[in-house]
Amino acid sequence: MTKSTPEGARDFLVPSRINQGNFYALPQSPQIFKQILMISGFDRYFQVVRCFRDEDLRADRQPEFTQIDCEMSFIDREDIITVMEGLIARIFREAKGIDIQLPVERITYAESILRFGVDNPDMRFGMELCDLTDIVKGSGFKVFAETAANGGVIKGINAKGCARFSRKEIDDLTEFVKIYGAKGLAYVKIENGEWHSPIAKFFTEQEIGTMNNSFAAEEGDLLFFVADKHKVVNDSLGKLRNQLASILKLTSRDDYRFVWITDFPLLEWDEEENRWAAVHHPFTAPMDEDLPFVESDPGRCRAKAYDLVLNGNEIGGGSIRIHQEQVQSLMFKLLGLSEESARSKFGFLLDALEFGTPPHGGIAFGMDRLIMLLTGSDSIRDVIAFPKTQRGTCMMSEAPSPVETKQLRELGIRLAEKQG
Ligand code: AMO
Ligand code: AMP
Repeated sequence: MTKSTPEGARDFLVPSRINQGNFYALPQSPQIFKQILMISGFDRYFQVVRCFRDEDLRADRQPEFTQIDCEMSFIDREDIITVMEGLIARIFREAKGIDIQLPVERITYAESILRFGVDNPDMRFGMELCDLTDIVKGSGFKVFAETAANGGVIKGINAKGCARFSRKEIDDLTEFVKIYGAKGLAYVKIENGEWHSPIAKFFTEQEIGTMNNSFAAEEGDLLFFVADKHKVVNDSLGKLRNQLASILKLTSRDDYRFVWITDFPLLEWDEEENRWAAVHHPFTAPMDEDLPFVESDPGRCRAKAYDLVLNGNEIGGGSIRIHQEQVQSLMFKLLGLSEESARSKFGFLLDALEFGTPPHGGIAFGMDRLIMLLTGSDSIRDVIAFPKTQRGTCMMSEAPSPVETKQLRELGIRLAEKQG
């Protein structure tokens, strides 16, 4: 039980009886504790640890899960990546008898978004996205030309050999991309060497030729397009790429393809809270060359953060940490914490950083997720004893459940309104 801090996900809170009105938080991860250990002189740490996050559940997410958590001092990114690849290779050799080719491929976050639309790309198949903005920005198709003029992008994906898809199949995919905010899904069938599409008439022969080259389009292909803001285009086409792979059965469970994603953005703008938020966590160091811009242009700064992705699943993530008090204070300021609240929430860390902190960094693997993939399971629930349902309930004990009024009184808690 620890202190509630604004780290990423929502905390599970535990009311204190002895200190009424105060709460512990269940740890989302031991992040600060492992850093304090490094600062105090331990040079390596390894723990299989329970973590708790109150977030919306999915097939690869549980409220209570297990991490393989590591931290090391006097290291850089290269050391972490090398040691951890060795760990993963050994796990695969001993558990599955599979030899992983090392070193694992690495791509930057920017390249991953450009080619795959997502930061957890499935590398088992191609069908990469193409950016068509420059080709269509002057075209006669208003939807594309206006999107480009307003700073948006137009990207596409070539669904190889799918010109045979029916109207209904295409309509279903159109509905699918709408989940991710796309306003439509334009398509082109390549049949008898020509473009068959409601939008073909808007393009010149030259524009069509250039697009065919970008898509490496061939007879029998089906081209899809989305025009919108960067995020909508990448999200929707990135998810469409995975959806097409599943329809076309392009992947095999026994094929394990790893990729490191590096150089994540340091911060992202949180529309709801109207402030910057850390992409990994607030203790992640900016890239040295971006440090001068942290205050003046936070959005352009990249972080010394990395994720390991296996077959489209983020199985681990970590970073090199900030080890200078001034940089950490600046980061808290950017995240909207006043000096006073940074002190009250993270005073112990800021104090510790003043005593000469070794450069340090680490990573945590999602152990349940890794086991889900090693066993070829569809859901993380299949590899956890007594998992929670999608609604966060335990099927056996029926937790969460109401408690006696006496228990609440001891904690000094009164419920706002009775449920149901
Ligand atoms: P992060 O938040 O990326 O990093 O978590 C590390 C890994 O834990 C797994 N994971 C989960 N698995 C199941 N259910 C969940 N709700 C869930 N949330 C995360 C993922 C993820 O890659 N302290 C940092 C690590 C560090 O910087 O060293 C951390 O927790 O596989
Ligand atoms: P419309 O001009 O609305 O009849 O649309 C013509 C085609 O373009 C349809 O197939 C739509 O699904 C598609 N479309 C409309 N808006 C977009 C968009 N923002 N991105 C991609 N395709 C779109």
